[in-house]
Amino acid sequence: MKALVLAGGAGSRLRPITHTSAKQLVPVANKPVLFYGLEAIRDAGIREVGIVVGDTAAEIRAAVGDGSAFGLDVTYLEQDAPRGLAHAVLIAREFLGEDDFVMYLGDNFIVGGIGDLVRRFRTDRPQAQIMLTRVSEPRAFGVAELDAAGRVVALEEKPDHPKSDLALVGVYLFSPAVHEAVAELKPSRRGELEITDAIQWLIDGGHRVESTLISGYWKDTGNVTDMLEVNRLVLEDVEPCVEGEVDGDSELIGRVVVEAGARVSRSRIVGPVIVGAGSTVRDSYVGPFTSIDRDCAVLGSEIEYSIVLRGASIDGVGRIECSLIGREAEVTPAPPVPRAHRLVLGDHSKVQISK
Ligand code: DAU
Repeated sequence: MKALVLAGGAGSRLRPITHTSAKQLVPVANKPVLFYGLEAIRDAGIREVGIVVGDTAAEIRAAVGDGSAFGLDVTYLEQDAPRGLAHAVLIAREFLGEDDFVMYLGDNFIVGGIGDLVRRFRTDRPQAQIMLTRVSEPRAFGVAELDAAGRVVALEEKPDHPKSDLALVGVYLFSPAVHEAVAELKPSRRGELEITDAIQWLIDGGHRVESTLISGYWKDTGNVTDMLEVNRLVLEDVEPCVEGEVDGDSELIGRVVVEAGARVSRSRIVGPVIVGAGSTVRDSYVGPFTSIDRDCAVLGSEIEYSIVLRGASIDGVGRIECSLIGREAEVTPAPPVPRAHRLVLGDHSKVQISK
């Protein structure tokens, strides 16, 4: 069995964090979301992985390399433009050969991995196996309609009038039968080759398509509340580990990771928290469910339930909560006069100011 990981796409989304970087590299607990997918694939016993890349190919290659760091054998498959999920299968035809494969969307996060699903597919061997999850905004997803017996009868991509709240999760298992379906497809009204249409083709042709309902699912929707929540979920399971320097005037409580090269002084950290390599926390309080990425500085400040991305600094401000601070961002106090907020905000930034 092989894996096909989709990490292409245009590389620009209407939110600050992915303006400048691949959405598959958005960090969750200081680790790109794509890496959790690759680890889940490896843990399911799969070694050969094709990664579909587009505009952000260089960034993805730099992050993943040849896959050996993950115990994987990675082949890159260049897609000229994001022409649809089924188009990615089309261009991967040679790589996939006659093997069964799991298709994994690189911006999806499945709590608990995919081991059980892969096992079930190998035992049952349907032509396709999909995962569904209940969502509050089905119009943003592919949506499945089930019959009374719970079998998938229809799939619709981003419908205006969804027939259910069951969204397709971005992990699909296929037998080589899907290649025949993909070869028959015409572009949808969105101009893409839709994988939902390929699965519908299989259903209509009497092929067996199984579905499983899961919970514990997240994808990068640009919604900061969701991102903080998935960060919390992952931090819940971190193992405490202090490899950096922590001085005698500091206190670490609960599950705290201080990576090598990080320095904590005169501070109190209440886990679960990660302080990334090369970061400094001084004269500060860091509260539960906070991820501080590499090379950040938190000085004379308090922060809780937040994500701080690489190279950002927070210096001499009061308390920050429920926040996502972008790479190299600087948060500092304003001079006492005039009493005014001074802001330099990137496009699509959001600021909440307490009065
Ligand atoms: O995340 C689940 C949803 O993913 C499903 O419910 C939908 O049925 C499915 O179409 C897909 O919808 P999205 O709008 O979320 O797809 P997106 O364009 O964000 O692409 C998903 C991943 O695949 C992302 O990592 C980019 C990559 N991609 C996408 C396209 C269209 C490619 O590598 N090549 C492509 O041509």
